[in-house]
Amino acid sequence: MNEISSNEKELSANQQRILIIGVSGLIGRLLFNHLTKTYPTKYEVLGLDQHMNISPRYQFKNYDNFKAETIVPLPLNKFFQCDITDREKLHQIIKEQNIKIIIHLAALLETHPDIEQISYVNIEGTKNVFEAPDIHRIIYASSGMVVHGYLDRQPYLSIFNETFDDNTILKDLRKITVADDPPLPDLTTPGRTVYSKGKIICEQMATDIVKNNSKSIICARFGAVNIEDKPETTWNRSLWLSHRDLCSFISKALEAPLNISGIYFVMSNNHRLWVDLEHTKRDLGYVPQDGAEKI
Ligand SMILES: NC(=O)c1ccc[n+]([C@@H]2O[C@H](COP(=O)([O-])OP(=O)(O)OC[C@H]3O[C@@H](n4cnc5c(N)ncnc54)[C@H](O)[C@@H]3O)[C@@H](O)[C@H]2O)c1
Repeated sequence: MNEISSNEKELSANQQRILIIGVSGLIGRLLFNHLTKTYPTKYEVLGLDQHMNISPRYQFKNYDNFKAETIVPLPLNKFFQCDITDREKLHQIIKEQNIKIIIHLAALLETHPDIEQISYVNIEGTKNVFEAPDIHRIIYASSGMVVHGYLDRQPYLSIFNETFDDNTILKDLRKITVADDPPLPDLTTPGRTVYSKGKIICEQMATDIVKNNSKSIICARFGAVNIEDKPETTWNRSLWLSHRDLCSFISKALEAPLNISGIYFVMSNNHRLWVDLEHTKRDLGYVPQDGAEKI
């Protein structure tokens, strides 16, 4: 063996192997791109999904400005096709690939037509991921939608209705925190109800698992991520999450000591942001660089 190949071997032995579950989705592709480009020697990134084609959210929602060259090719030898509800196959892949770190993004979205399927995949599939053998850390994609129920109440209702008076209310706005404000699901449509209740159940599952286990699970209540990387023009911009801030959060969550587990809001620093990021900043050193401006 020559000197170069022996160095390469040593380098790859020091790499940490990350499995992105839901890698064919919008966030999965963004993170695969970010981690492989930013940390070519620190992390080896593998992906798993039920299909290799990019997800409908990635393809259709952004059809007008869809550019094939923006899609990062996923090498075949780094991709595993598996449905997360197939517990045996999922655990076998994780064991065989000696995975210690998982970023779990796979889910059926609130727009999926089969409500029962949303619940089954998102809860049972996530249970299978959480119970995978020999994992040190899981970063789980929860959602800001788990507190959308507060949008029925003032002062958050006025943000939703866009009647919020920035001059008088913004400086006194009490932001929703993980510690003091229990989740309140979005009940506006059956899909959103099942989707957000499923995320709440999985956050609770994560909390229970880490109590009795050395595993770390970081539940990230992501804000609204879109391929254009621009805040929308509705109230939803208050919960925008830019690609840069998403990637920086993931880097921080991967680097955090393994005794850190918990539930964290992950949004950009938006005007009218109504959830509290202090906990995320304090525990993980997350510092959002972007923010939706006032319109
Ligand atoms: N994009 C956002 O604004 C946003 C906001 C908050 C939370 N989230 C969460 O982040 C995660 C990723 O969202 P996204 O926007 O990339 O969605 P997406 O639909 O683009 O990606 C989800 C991926 O999960 C895969 N998947 C679904 N069911 C599966 C199964 N049974 N087995 C294996 N893979 C399966 C899909 O094929 C898809 O590639 C989801 O959990 C979502 O709930 C997204």
